Amino acid sequence: MKFFLDTANLDEIRSAAEFGVIDGVTTNPTLVAKEGRPFRELILAICDILPRGVINAEVVSTDTAGMLREGRELASWHPNIAVKIPMTSDGVRALYVLAGEGIRVNVTLCFSAAQALLVAKAGAYIVSPFIGRLDDIGQDGLVLLREILEIYRVNNFPVLAASLRHPIHVIEAAKMGAHIGTLPSKVFEQLFKHPLTDRGLETFVKDWEKARGVLGEIIEPATTPKRGR
Ligand code: G3P
Repeated sequence: MKFFLDTANLDEIRSAAEFGVIDGVTTNPTLVAKEGRPFRELILAICDILPRGVINAEVVSTDTAGMLREGRELASWHPNIAVKIPMTSDGVRALYVLAGEGIRVNVTLCFSAAQALLVAKAGAYIVSPFIGRLDDIGQDGLVLLREILEIYRVNNFPVLAASLRHPIHVIEAAKMGAHIGTLPSKVFEQLFKHPLTDRGLETFVKDWEKARGVLGEIIEPATTPKRGR
């Protein structure tokens, strides 16, 4: 499963990029608004940090004509940009046209298998079911993800598991075969953690320190070469 980072924060993206495991970024109007800087400049800075990543930028119009204008504009900023379009009738009309022009469209705010099937047929590059937001209203988001993946596997369409809120969401999405999971930085950082790792490392360091005099150093201090040899 590919990892996208679900943020528009450049520091978070820079820091996660250092691990070499981030394949792209998803932004949305809420995440972009938090950063308080010009949209184009922000998206291009993200493209610079991840030159091989897929960078998702979302339209804010709600009518087809507006989405088409914005979608074409966003796609013209950088070849790595995928355009996010909301799952509405106007959105699907815009998706069909943009996909026909070779623009990658990620259909966002997907909450049902019927919606997912529809947008795959209309030519979406990817669909984004929002797992955590279904959990928030008392439905199991992972059930929806399983259902969409089953349909998509049969029909060979890719799925992006979005709104992942904790490592279990990430693990389950990967086990089910989601093609991409988009993670907020907090969830990405949680993937590194296990208390037994911390405890084990603490013991290794302590035991080594106790026996250091006998063990010597892994890296011996550099010796000054003797002259005249
Ligand atoms: O970027 C879309 C999605 O991942 C949002 O997640 O946590 O706001 O429901 P969340």
